[in-house]
Amino acid sequence: MITLAVETSCDETALAIYSDKEGIIGEVLLSQAKVHEQFGGVVPELSAREHTKNLLPLLKVLLDRTGFDLKRVDFISFTLTPGLILSLVVGVSFAKALAYTLKKPLVPVHHLEGHIYSVFVERPIEEPFLALVVSGGHTDLYLVEGFGKYRFLGGTLDDAVGESYDKVARLMGLGYPGGPIIDRLARQGEPKYPLPRPMIDDPSLNMSFSGLKTAVRKIVEGGNYSKEDLSASFQRAVLDVLEAKLLKAVELTGVKRVAVVGGVSANSELRERFQKLTEKGIISAYIPHPRLSTDNAVMIAYAGIERFKRGITAPEDINPEPNIPL
Ligand code: KG4
Ligand code: ZN
Repeated sequence: MITLAVETSCDETALAIYSDKEGIIGEVLLSQAKVHEQFGGVVPELSAREHTKNLLPLLKVLLDRTGFDLKRVDFISFTLTPGLILSLVVGVSFAKALAYTLKKPLVPVHHLEGHIYSVFVERPIEEPFLALVVSGGHTDLYLVEGFGKYRFLGGTLDDAVGESYDKVARLMGLGYPGGPIIDRLARQGEPKYPLPRPMIDDPSLNMSFSGLKTAVRKIVEGGNYSKEDLSASFQRAVLDVLEAKLLKAVELTGVKRVAVVGGVSANSELRERFQKLTEKGIISAYIPHPRLSTDNAVMIAYAGIERFKRGITAPEDINPEPNIPL
């Protein structure tokens, strides 16, 4: 079974050809980071225009590189939700045109389901498992009982973790996206600044990160601060909260296997911390390769195949939505 997957939910234009037997046949990904950098964040209208400009040339590159005959595709997978609506519209329209031309079905994929199952591209996790989704738009904990069976346990009440990385980077004038930049600076600094760990002692699995951003702002506005030390302090606070909430979820559910997914799971300190907890036998962390942590079409293809196997296809008039819950 082979699918071509289209991912355009935010600022990455991505396509992948994936087989349930052979794995990744080919993939292409174009980041729009340079386009949005000067604005300090993603500009939705520009994002949609970039997707429109780049999808067809990228498909040609993918087919040239792989020598793949598009007629071998069994169905087209695409990200339906959540995401920037204009960007999703471009991807859905492209997927529909391909499906119509090739006379193949369309399979809608939930972006977060793609993130959760990104781990399976490398190695499967025995279900049930916990999923900590940490991306630019989401910071959520789920109990995954099986494919398509997700129990929401808690999540951020305000900013997503990736979003706070990006906002804190903007406060410090570091550029976009902030996550990789803060990750790099933090390695050169010490977590010297006393920052809050919001809701860390709250008994629920909910989180909050906007107060942390405000505390960083106060230090920046005070002037004369070290970007390296502030990055290290911010990151330490974020990871303390994520770890505490994750351990609480393990305690509440009795499930120790954890998929840590989404763009922020590319973070080097996060990976080291969860790796250490795994070595100590406290949890069993599964973190995708950084290329699969951030947005990509391979994860959409993987989830697309699982959905198609369960008979899920999209009607011809399907329309994207910015935020359908998982
Ligand atoms: O999953 P993703 O690519 O897109 C969404 O679905 O939102 O996540 C993007 C987010 C951005 O906020 C970016 O700053 C963050 O992931 N990110 C990181 C790192 N790499 C990307 N955050 C922390 N450390 C990183 N190394
Ligand atoms: Zn994402």
